[in-house]
Amino acid sequence: MKPKILLFDLFGTLVDVGGVADECERVFPGHGEQLSRVWRDKQLKYTWLRTLMGRYENFERITQHALVAACNDLRLHPDDALKEDLPAAFERLKPFPEVPTALASLASDGFHLGVLSNGTRQQASAVLAQSAFGVPILIFSADDVRLYKPAPGVYAFGVQQVQAEVGEVLFVSANAWDVAGARAFGLSCAWLDRARGSFEELDVTPTIVAHDLDDLVHELRQREA
Ligand code: LAC
Repeated sequence: MKPKILLFDLFGTLVDVGGVADECERVFPGHGEQLSRVWRDKQLKYTWLRTLMGRYENFERITQHALVAACNDLRLHPDDALKEDLPAAFERLKPFPEVPTALASLASDGFHLGVLSNGTRQQASAVLAQSAFGVPILIFSADDVRLYKPAPGVYAFGVQQVQAEVGEVLFVSANAWDVAGARAFGLSCAWLDRARGSFEELDVTPTIVAHDLDDLVHELRQREA
């Protein structure tokens, strides 16, 4: 079945989480790169742990907790104002360079576009608003089901929200764990191998591997031709 709807992961897929390192560097000179890496790792880990523990907190709170934990690990001491303010760095992230034009191409090729993110609706809206992509993009947040990807219930929620058959949706993510989860649920998936890395060993493989969103536009046009 040909996909009609493209559902995108947000952080690391449409916008570059590398931007968090610059904000961390400004407040903790010399530690930006490391802090942002440990912070992101803990942020993801906490989503998975809380889903397994049955102790949901939204992604804004998780991002705050992960920052405190990362600072504790690295013996950095943010004050209360910083603990409140720095997490908004995730709402100020910039799109990868090819994303605005590639999204416009996909929209003009007739695809409906949506974001299915672990982030809250508020976070996703803030990111999309400042990115000003200029094409309609629906927002679906894991917050509505109080579970995090890669739990199957989140992908099921996305499919249900777009009122489509599973086969009509292509899920697109640069996060291999996310692609693995969506494939395990039964969605077709494009993995954006932005880091030229290797896929996870989880008994599933991506349906399409593309280097970036331009490459995916090309690949989908080839399949159509
Ligand atoms: C997202 C993060 C987890 O769901 O990448 O947008």
